[in-house]
Parts: sequence; C-alpha cells; structure tokens
Amino acid sequence: MTLLNDKVAIVTGASSGIGRAAVKVFARQGARLVVTGRRQEALDAVVAEIEADGGQAVAVAGDIRDEALQARLTDTAVSRFGGLDIAFNNAGGLGEMGPVAGLSVEGWRETIETNLTAAFLGAKHQSAAMGKRGGSLIFTSTFVGHTAGMPGMAAYAASKAGLIGFVQVLAAELGRQNIRVNALLPGGTDTPASITNAPDATPDLLAFVEGLHALKRMAQPEEIANAALFLASDLSSFVTGTAMLADGGVSISRT
Ligand SMILES: NC(=O)c1ccc[n+]([C@@H]2O[C@H](COP(=O)([O-])OP(=O)(O)OC[C@H]3O[C@@H](n4cnc5c(N)ncnc54)[C@H](OP(=O)(O)O)[C@@H]3O)[C@@H](O)[C@H]2O)c1
Repeated sequence: MTLLNDKVAIVTGASSGIGRAAVKVFARQGARLVVTGRRQEALDAVVAEIEADGGQAVAVAGDIRDEALQARLTDTAVSRFGGLDIAFNNAGGLGEMGPVAGLSVEGWRETIETNLTAAFLGAKHQSAAMGKRGGSLIFTSTFVGHTAGMPGMAAYAASKAGLIGFVQVLAAELGRQNIRVNALLPGGTDTPASITNAPDATPDLLAFVEGLHALKRMAQPEEIANAALFLASDLSSFVTGTAMLADGGVSISRT
C-alpha cells in the first residue's frame, strides 16, 4: 500500500529542484500527476522518467501567473484522472534582490505575482475542483521573512510571508470540506535557484549558508519533497493551517 494510492496531484515548479523531486516521490507513492512549469522540454523529460518507472503524469506548460493556465491544470486533472486530491503549489523564485532603496517596483510586483498572486489563482481553481471530495493544498513558503530577516530579500520575504497568512484563511474557509491547507517552509536547499549555485557563488558562501543551519548542511530536494509527501498524504490528516518548517534548524541556530 502506497501513501498516495490513486490520488490525483498537481505539482507546480515540476521542471526543476524541489518540484521535480516531489513529482517523483509522489509518483512512487501511487499519485497520478499533472505537472507544470514554463519549460516544456524539461517537463517532458520528467514525465518520461515517471512513465519509465511505471507511473502516470501529464505535462501542461505555462506561466503560473496566468489564470487560464491555472484553470487548465485543474481541468486536466479532472478530465484525465477524474478529479483532484492534492496540489503542491511550489513554483516560485527569489525575484529582484538588493536593498529596498534600490528595488524597482516592477521587480517587486513580479515577485509578489509569482510567489503570492499565482498561489491565490491556483487555490481558487483547485479548491473549486476538490469540492466536497476533500484534499490537501500545500504552498511552498520559506523561513526567510518568517523566522529570519535576510538583507536583500525584501520582495521574496514579503511574498512568502504573505502565503502564510493566505494559508491560515484558506484553511479556515475549507476545513468543513475536509480540504487541508498548509505552508511548507524549507531551509536552504541545493537546487538551481539557490544563491549557492549562482555563477558568482564561492566555496566561502556555501560554507556560510551551510553553517547557518543547525545540521551544518543544506537540504537535498528529496528531503523537502518528503516533507511535502507528509502534508499531501493522510499521515497529516489532522494538520491544517500550519507553517511547517523543514529547515535543518536554520530558524533556531545561532552559531
Ligand atoms: N532552494 C532553496 O533554498 C529554497 C528555500 C526555501 C524555499 N524555496 C522555494 O521552493 C520553491 C522551489 O524552488 P527551487 O529551489 O526548487 O527552485 P528551482 O529549481 O529554480 O525551481 C523553480 C521552479 O518554479 C518554476 N517557476 C518559476 N517561476 C514560474 C512561473 N512564473 N510560472 C511557472 N513556473 C515557474 C520553474 O519552472 P520553469 O523554469 O520551467 O518555469 C521551476 O520548475 C520556490 O517557491 C522557492 O522559493 C527554495
């Protein structure tokens, strides 16, 4: 018996990093998947890997800021797999970085739209598709702006902290329908988006970031995917409205 036997899941940001790891973990646990990101080729590669492993997945490429894409994702879950049980709203990015005095309003808006407004658009369609069937909505937030202020990350922190407020209200709205809603807050994770993988990153920067965590290392994407699996599955059947840290102790570490 697998944890997500016959469940239908949407995963955003499935072309890379945490989302890519999550679709593979979910598929191995029996989920049928609708995967999305902007890069069709990368999505096709993920779908091919899942199918080669005996799983089922369909790719729908697009920009999560587009409501028509969000509607298409839920429509695809319903038409291809008969409904929707889980949505891992994970896509996002750091956006424009730097001191607030130098941030452009365009960069600010783009970050809020990608990390926060897109989550609202997803939830709107996903919760309607789940209806009385129940389900689990998960939103990838971060410890930044929740337990730590990191200079240069104002737009990112505001957008991701906004998600936590959104999750609380949505969880209260949807509880009677047995739809659980949670935010997942990773610590530093070794993905293409990490500042430690930027072209100008140095070994010193990596050592600094690793040292911020109590575990003195960064996460592998699969470790965050496993935390998402907990929130997606019935193992977390009484967990809703939370901001769940999976952060290697970055929030509590002071050395
Ligand atoms: N890595 C970390 O240290 C860390 C820590 C805490 C939280 N997070 C959060 O974890 C989530 C996943 O990040 P990651 O580290 O796995 O980064 P990643 O490897 O760069 O993956 C980001 C994913 O989001 C998708 N995406 C970004 N903007 C999009 C848009 N406008 N429309 C559609 N898809 C979009 C990308 O797909 P395409 O490029 O194909 O569009 C990609 O699949 C993000 O929300 C991030 O903020 C990461």
